[in-house]
Amino acid sequence: MPTRSTVILGTGSYAPARVLTNAELSTMVDTSDEWIRTRSGIRERRIAAPDEASSDLGVPAARRALEDAGLTPADIDLLIVATVTPDTPMPACACYIQHKLGIPTHAACFDLNAACSGFVYALDTACAMLESGRYRKALVIGVEKLSSIVDWQDRTTCVLFGDGAGAAVIGLGETPGVGLLGTRLGSFGEGTDLLCIPRGGSRAPSTAESIAARDHCIRMKGKEVFKLAVRCMDEAARDILEQHGIRADQISLVIPHQANLRIIEAISSYLELPMERFFVNVDRYGNTSAASIPLALDEARRTGRIKPGDLTLLVAFGAGLTYGSALIRW
Ligand code: UT7
Repeated sequence: MPTRSTVILGTGSYAPARVLTNAELSTMVDTSDEWIRTRSGIRERRIAAPDEASSDLGVPAARRALEDAGLTPADIDLLIVATVTPDTPMPACACYIQHKLGIPTHAACFDLNAACSGFVYALDTACAMLESGRYRKALVIGVEKLSSIVDWQDRTTCVLFGDGAGAAVIGLGETPGVGLLGTRLGSFGEGTDLLCIPRGGSRAPSTAESIAARDHCIRMKGKEVFKLAVRCMDEAARDILEQHGIRADQISLVIPHQANLRIIEAISSYLELPMERFFVNVDRYGNTSAASIPLALDEARRTGRIKPGDLTLLVAFGAGLTYGSALIRW
């Protein structure tokens, strides 16, 4: 057991200005507002400008988190960016963000890919590195420009995703029992093909033909992913509660990955926790992958849904198929 505790000192988020509504989408592919709303709960999503890269979304989110924490970029010695849409395949998005923010060169900066579970994985990684005593202040960002990897001709996926960013500043805590109490991470590698980008990696580099077939875009077997999302998120939530001897009704707010309102409702029913205890913003942003939980966490904090002493449960699921949960006492 670590001797040090880690706390969230500040949060921030950012979503690009352009709103893409279901009505507008239904002029682009054969879909309808009614279908999207009833199947997913999504009403609109944000889309980054063509010249806005993930780092451009991550920077304002990070600035807000630093301001909230009362810190400056000079205080950060660890930057982890959870993303599947880095500005470039190499170098890491974290290095672009480091440069734009002016984080010192002695800081460790890297990306982490656990898809939609990325923020919970990055939070766990940052906390473990802080608890080691080798780092003092971490900036953890979840950011995605999913509009750059969506197949805009595939109605089964393009209606679901959006762009955005969320960030948290983490430091060592002084009050025992306050901060990150624990995490439970997992991965179901058998499911790699259920949600993936088939081409453009080392297994099958892109060719002119594969690009014409849009195989460098997201492909998802929605129904199978839906069932596994409910199963894995329920398991991740139950396990962590059990590990810490906490009943579900002691959780003030669950911040689940925002992929589909029906998934969140299923978890609410399995955990026998009313929907009022779940933070939901999937209606306004769609699924923003690694950005979804930190964006929701920041909105929850700024709208007074989290108070000192509260217990918050983060629960995530994504391509991999990765999943995870984190328990935080404020
Ligand atoms: O972040 C990672 C985790 N991702 C997720 O958790 C996503 C999980 N999956 C889902 O959220 C849901 O499976 C979807 C929202 C993707 C789909 O909902 P569904 O209730 O599973 O629908 P479906 O795939 O069974 O499709 C039902 C019908 C099909 O037509 P037929 O075959 O019944 O005639 C689809 O072709 O709806 C059709 N359809 C559409 N119709 C209008 C699929 N996409 C659309 C669309 N508009 N956009």
